[in-house]
Amino acid sequence: MSATPSCRICGGTLREFFDFGRQPVADAFVTPGEVSNEFFYRLAVAMCATCTMVQLVEGVPRERMFRTDYPYHASGSTDMRSHFQGMAQYFLDNELKEPGSFIVEFGSNDGIMLETVLRAGVRHLGVEPSRNVAEAAAAKDIRVRNAFFEESTAKEVLAADGPAKVIYAANTFSHVDYVDSIFRGVDALLAPDGIFVFEDPYFADIVERTSFDQIYDEHYYFFTVRSVQAMAAQYGFELVDVEHLPVHGGEIRYTVARPAARTPSPEVDRYLELERAAGIAEQPALDRFAANVERLRDELRALLEKCRAEGKSVVGYGATAKSATLTNFCGIGPDLVSYICDNTPAKQGRLSPGSHIPVCSPEEFAASYPDYALLFAWNHADEIMRKESRFQEQGGKWILYVPKVHII
Ligand code: SAH
Ligand code: TYD
Ligand code: ZN
Repeated sequence: MSATPSCRICGGTLREFFDFGRQPVADAFVTPGEVSNEFFYRLAVAMCATCTMVQLVEGVPRERMFRTDYPYHASGSTDMRSHFQGMAQYFLDNELKEPGSFIVEFGSNDGIMLETVLRAGVRHLGVEPSRNVAEAAAAKDIRVRNAFFEESTAKEVLAADGPAKVIYAANTFSHVDYVDSIFRGVDALLAPDGIFVFEDPYFADIVERTSFDQIYDEHYYFFTVRSVQAMAAQYGFELVDVEHLPVHGGEIRYTVARPAARTPSPEVDRYLELERAAGIAEQPALDRFAANVERLRDELRALLEKCRAEGKSVVGYGATAKSATLTNFCGIGPDLVSYICDNTPAKQGRLSPGSHIPVCSPEEFAASYPDYALLFAWNHADEIMRKESRFQEQGGKWILYVPKVHII
């Protein structure tokens, strides 16, 4: 895909506000034999001067990201399992009570949300293009279609199953640049009184916490209430509710419906006002963010270099997609972080994209604790620190970098 000079949503002028340089595909963990063959693109973010949607300037073709061996397995986190159980239960109790109700989730991954729906015996379908995780869901008896959700898929689902009362997507809608096709698909498939619900990282939280590692190829858009409201209206829908979520460092769950189908919640206006007061669509906020990113990079590098100079051992914890931006932008390789421990079998034994840090199992971490562990999976800090309490008991220290570089 070539560089896009104008907004993918409204055609407005894009104002670029940060360039992370050449970056690899964030979830493309490589074998030693593949390192000379990696795909790189220019990772830069811009805001639309008209609709304020924050977006990547250059995207990566979707087939390079979502493949037969997509390594992210959502069910690897127990906290996220309870988060999605709660979501499913909400839908079951409030939206799917009528017999025959039908829910479609796109980006259903290994079935982390739909398994609760399946247990309740409610009609459902997951639409998931990455074959390995689609198969993991199917192995739990979840109904899955191995495809990208887009207009054509939505029409096929409608023909086979009828309209959906709920269409849901977590950490997926903002991953795709073709929102026009997604909205046309939602328009075709959604029942007249149905809702389209999606949750994605909140740009205001990224700015406030300098969590710039949320910016990588799979996160094509960075939503705000204002930009989502404009986008929904452009495609003939209305934003009727927003809910701020603590997961993944701060997300918003957006509920969209057909015009006048639902009564809008006052939360929409409240968040619009909060965003206005914070000035997140204004240039000074973007300039401050850019300065904070550079400061964070310098502080983290200085800390890791100091550890190395003092002969302290440092490893990474959580081979996240986010860590691709962090390590490649900050110039962190195996010389500063000797390995990354991660509980995903598909990542173990491979090297992190671009930065080529080996990925090992948590058992190897426990076998010989380092002095410091740099928590790349900072969004799972509570769960991981709980699980790894022995590391701290034995004198180990965590290095965190969100919202600022600090040691625990
Ligand atoms: N919903 C899960 C998984 C998010 S990862 C969670 O929140 O934890 C994003 C998922 O979206 C991946 O499994 C990827 O394969 C899938 N995906 C990417 N583009 C998609 C599309 N157009 N339609 C459906 N799924 C898509
Ligand atoms: P996550 O931060 O959810 O997403 P992303 O890749 O989009 O940045 O990834 C968390 C990673 O951390 C994932 O590879 C699994 C790993 N992990 C562990 O190794 N142990 C744990 O206890 C948890 C919760 C995650
Ligand atoms: Zn725009």
